[in-house]
Amino acid sequence: MSNKTLTVHDPNSGKTTDLSLIEGTIGRPTVDIRPLSADLNYFTFDPGFVSTASCKSSITYIDGDAGILLYRGYPIEQLAEKSTFLEVAYLLMNGNLPTPNELGSFDNEIKRYSNIHEKLRIFLNGFHYDAHPMAMMVGIVGSLSAFYHGELDSEDPEHRRISALRMLAKMPTIAAACYKHTLGHPFVYPRHDLGYCENFLNMMFSQPPAQFFIQKESYLEPIAAKALDLLFILHADHEQNASTSTVRLASSTGANPYACIAAGIAALWGPSHGGANEAVLNMLSEIGDVKAIPDYIKKAKDKNDPFRLMGFGHRVYKNFDPRATIIRKTCHEILDALSYQDPLFDLALQLEEIAGEDEYFLEKKLYPNVDFYSGIIYKALNIPKDMFTVMFTLARTAGWVSHWLEMMEDPSQRIGRPRQLYIGSETRNYLDIGDRQ
Ligand code: CMC
Repeated sequence: MSNKTLTVHDPNSGKTTDLSLIEGTIGRPTVDIRPLSADLNYFTFDPGFVSTASCKSSITYIDGDAGILLYRGYPIEQLAEKSTFLEVAYLLMNGNLPTPNELGSFDNEIKRYSNIHEKLRIFLNGFHYDAHPMAMMVGIVGSLSAFYHGELDSEDPEHRRISALRMLAKMPTIAAACYKHTLGHPFVYPRHDLGYCENFLNMMFSQPPAQFFIQKESYLEPIAAKALDLLFILHADHEQNASTSTVRLASSTGANPYACIAAGIAALWGPSHGGANEAVLNMLSEIGDVKAIPDYIKKAKDKNDPFRLMGFGHRVYKNFDPRATIIRKTCHEILDALSYQDPLFDLALQLEEIAGEDEYFLEKKLYPNVDFYSGIIYKALNIPKDMFTVMFTLARTAGWVSHWLEMMEDPSQRIGRPRQLYIGSETRNYLDIGDRQ
């Protein structure tokens, strides 16, 4: 905490209080508003937490005006170019990049925990074949809390570490199992000879008996796993976004971590958050042709029309989303490498260009976000549209568990319990109603 303060004088009561300015490592200072309640008897009002920091964190830093995203201090551009998803997950969870030995053991542990209990698989059969995979993810991940509760000891850091690892390790297995269930295909067990993303692609697309052979299917081409790995790095964490804040709020009560992650998955599903990648593809398909773009731009600007350009805008980024810049470039590379022509990619590029010259989008600082181009890559990898947000879930699990580990170690952590501004009826007397029979 710095010695700087902000003095607030309340002319209504004549009272004055000093609010401390808390300085982080980088970024805007934060005003400690607690004395407003204690000294001046006021609450603060900030719907959507636009200006309120809910916690201290050392994991991720974003400068929305400059388009900067750092994981544990490392710029996202460097991690995207040099790192792997597992290395990034280790970094987020532990604070530092792993040595080769540490990465080897981490990888082995992830493999060891990647199987799921056979009873969990049976659970899946309860879902209708056309259930949305995100609905299944919420249910199945939540039900992990029924499998792992007795041994959960939030006082023991090693138990917490294993819970976090287990979550990260099982997520691809659960996700692929949900997909296989929608097809009515047999479940494919995890393979320990494959990397994290290769193994996931294998569980998604392999069909018995082929799963028992090392095969050269297109989904096992190194470019496919590499593209997925990159998307996972870019989606791994994003500080106190809606789903991470949900995980933190649920966890602040001391609830089972698997149930808390399921709450995060539910929050991620919404089209304003992780569900946007699926919504972008739906929107592009609906627009269908470059000639129709102006009509959709007009709809997006119309206050009386609920339509928004999906994959555009961000609460924090007001200049550009550095993840979108990387994904746009990767989109070109992947489509070229796979010799995959996608008219929706051309349409997306045109839409970005036309919106980028429109006064409305310029003035409101609305640019493509991470989800604008990610669906095009998933589509090129044969991942079906309703699995796009599930892909986001796999990646963001690294962030969720890191925030959970961080908050469990924070001695100042308290139950999350916001205030409200009550605008309902004043006190009424039930007896004044008389006989209601
Ligand atoms: N198309 C048209 N207008 C928009 C859009 C859009 N995509 N996004 C924001 N606006 C307008 C909005 O109508 C508002 O106008 P006004 O000031 O006249 O009322 C202004 O821009 C500010 O928007 P907001 O909704 O108050 O901003 P927010 O910070 O609360 O919401 C957002 C951010 C991402 C939810 C929003 O931009 C949006 O709905 N975008 C489309 C959905 C999307 O792509 N979501 C993925 C976000 S990135 C991945 C992730 O982190 O999950």
